[in-house]
Amino acid sequence: MLEFIFLALLVTVNGYVWPSPQLDALESARFEQLGHNEGIAGFVDPCIADNFEENLSGRSDAADWIRNAYHDMATHNTMDGTGGLDSSIRFAEEQARPENAGDGFFRASEVLSAFATQYISIADTFAIGAIIAIENCGGPEIAFRGGRVDAGEPNAPGVPQPQQDLQSHIGAFARQGFTQTEMISLVACGHTFGGVEHAAFPNIVPEFYDPTDTLSVAHFDSTFVHFDNNIAMEYISGTTKDPLVVGRNDTTNSDKRIFGSDGNATMASFAKSPELYASTCATLFARMLDTVPKGVELTEVITPLPVKPEILTMLFDNGTVQFSGEVRFWNMTLDETHAVNLLWDDHIGGTHNLSLPPAGVSTSTGGLYSAAFYSILDNGGPFLLDAAAGIKNMRFVVDGKLEDQGGSGFPVQDGVLYSTSSCITSGMQFFPPFTGRFDVAVRDGLNPTRVFLERLEMDNVGRPIIVETDVPRPDQPVPTGAGYSIWSINLTQSGIDAFAMYTLGAEVNGEKLVLFGAAQSISQVPRCPT
Ligand code: HEM
Ligand SMILES: *[C@@H]1O[C@H](CO)[C@@H](O)[C@H](O)[C@H]1NC(C)=O
Ligand SMILES: *[C@@H]1O[C@H](CO)[C@@H](O)[C@H](O)[C@H]1NC(C)=O
Ligand SMILES: *[C@@H]1O[C@H](CO)[C@@H](O)[C@H](O)[C@H]1NC(C)=O
Ligand SMILES: *[C@@H]1O[C@H](CO)[C@@H](O)[C@H](O)[C@H]1NC(C)=O
Ligand SMILES: *[C@@H]1O[C@H](CO)[C@@H](O)[C@H](O)[C@H]1NC(C)=O
Ligand SMILES: *[C@@H]1O[C@H](CO)[C@@H](O)[C@H](O)[C@H]1NC(C)=O
Ligand SMILES: *[C@@H]1O[C@H](CO)[C@@H](O)[C@H](O)[C@H]1NC(C)=O
Repeated sequence: MLEFIFLALLVTVNGYVWPSPQLDALESARFEQLGHNEGIAGFVDPCIADNFEENLSGRSDAADWIRNAYHDMATHNTMDGTGGLDSSIRFAEEQARPENAGDGFFRASEVLSAFATQYISIADTFAIGAIIAIENCGGPEIAFRGGRVDAGEPNAPGVPQPQQDLQSHIGAFARQGFTQTEMISLVACGHTFGGVEHAAFPNIVPEFYDPTDTLSVAHFDSTFVHFDNNIAMEYISGTTKDPLVVGRNDTTNSDKRIFGSDGNATMASFAKSPELYASTCATLFARMLDTVPKGVELTEVITPLPVKPEILTMLFDNGTVQFSGEVRFWNMTLDETHAVNLLWDDHIGGTHNLSLPPAGVSTSTGGLYSAAFYSILDNGGPFLLDAAAGIKNMRFVVDGKLEDQGGSGFPVQDGVLYSTSSCITSGMQFFPPFTGRFDVAVRDGLNPTRVFLERLEMDNVGRPIIVETDVPRPDQPVPTGAGYSIWSINLTQSGIDAFAMYTLGAEVNGEKLVLFGAAQSISQVPRCPT
């Protein structure tokens, strides 16, 4: 009974509160798809897009990303907890194995890993890529959790291959955590996309010399860039051209053995009901993506925040704070004009009001959702705050309705900001070596234990890591007379990369603050005034 109540509570408290840097980043990457602030989805729109060849290659990146996620996961071993969706397939050593024939894994890694940050692992981008491909190409909505951890080395082999017999496929899926029925389903869910390419499997697929399929890809069903139950309908009706069902060499007809392994019961149910097919696939794809090595803890299922401030930036500029950004309203279109106002509280008891202009719209999950963005700008430029009064909290009013995160508002941290007084004393902008300084404005009374620069880098196996460089605490604070004093870091200090983009970090009593500020490059700061 006690356990039941606890579970029920967990289900209702699955939202998160802004700001939460990791969840905010994962939520945007997963839900901001086409249109304004477009990200990963741009590569699979339209679904036939092949970003590495011409459009009529017969391949699509959407299909590659789904196969990529399955093969990365398929090394999982439920007995010892090793393997799983951990981006180990990015290693050349795994890609060279016969079980990973073709260059789809190299291509998927190239595109998707570029979206990894300190908050989004490469494995998370693999999961998001598969979800976006499926949802935007006609498939169901798939629950997404973040927090996957990138492997530091290849996993043990274990991806099924077409020439293996049924018993070894049943065994391989059992090792990965799936029953025989789930195996049939998952293969049918994956093989609604893409096909078998001649170059990767010359013994299964001949060359076609077809100008509309230049890479000679034999597709699994007649709608190879669209999620639908045609894979099952065509199989059951006997019209399938799936090269792993009707291939000339029966040894490599793995789909035929798998689909028929329960007397066609599962495939017949999918052929009859597109709804059953879609809901089964949604559940199994989510389980496939959430199969991770032992010890990795995933987040709750991430749902879109109804109101979300984004890309906020603040710069200290000689007594004023330049503030800009956007706010996103989920499930809102711009068909009608909405009145959107930002109300913000300063540190000295004042409340201020700014009317916000629209910035754009985005759609996601195959057009299921739309979101409208409004700019936090004043007459097209950053909104100028009196630095001494500062900003503490935001609320929004949309068509007269208050949006304040259930009363807490949207807390804003203005304690540590880049200062526009940062400058180069010798050398030229964009042409290192420089001498000069990077100035950080620290709000009086905040007393940070540390202020530092953060640079996103890759470790020796390509995983995103943060490199920190401390901004030294000044012996004598340099007051600005506007509620802040200046801390400086000498640009010639070793470890500073002139062209890297740096964000700011700070700790107060050992706790990291959530700061806002676009990354800055030291090569871009102006000459100091003479
Ligand atoms: C016994 C299990 C499986 C076998 C033997 C198998 C075999 C194959 C083969 C030989 C290809 C052709 C690859 C190429 O030419 O590049 C392929 C493609 C594909 N497979 Fe599987 N597969 C299996 C399970 C799965 C599962 C469980 C999924 C996903 C849930 C999946 C998703 C895909 C996709 C999307 C493609 C198309 C890739 C593209 O067109 O670029 N497969 N599969
Ligand atoms: C491929 O298709 C896309 C979208 O239809 C189009 O924008 C692009 O120009 C095409 N590229 C080529 C090389 O035909
Ligand atoms: C059929 O495929 C298997 C596995 O690739 C191969 O060993 C065998 O030689 C093939 N048979 C024929 C007749 O080509
Ligand atoms: C399953 O369906 C296939 C394709 O229609 C057919 O060839 C096969 O005989 C069926 N198997 C059974 C056991 O009905
Ligand atoms: C900073 O502002 C003060 C007064 O507001 C002005 O006198 C001064 O010139 C400004 N300094 C710079 C570097 O713009
Ligand atoms: C989106 O908004 C419409 C109308 O405002 C509402 O009917 C619908 O339930 C909302 N959908 C979601 C998923 O919140
Ligand atoms: C904010 O300003 C708008 C006009 O732009 C006004 O209608 C609204 O009442 C103001 N809200 C508050 C809380 O002051
Ligand atoms: C920065 O360090 C260099 C080398 O130690 C020194 O010559 C220079 O004066 C310093 N510049 C500033 C602005 O402190």
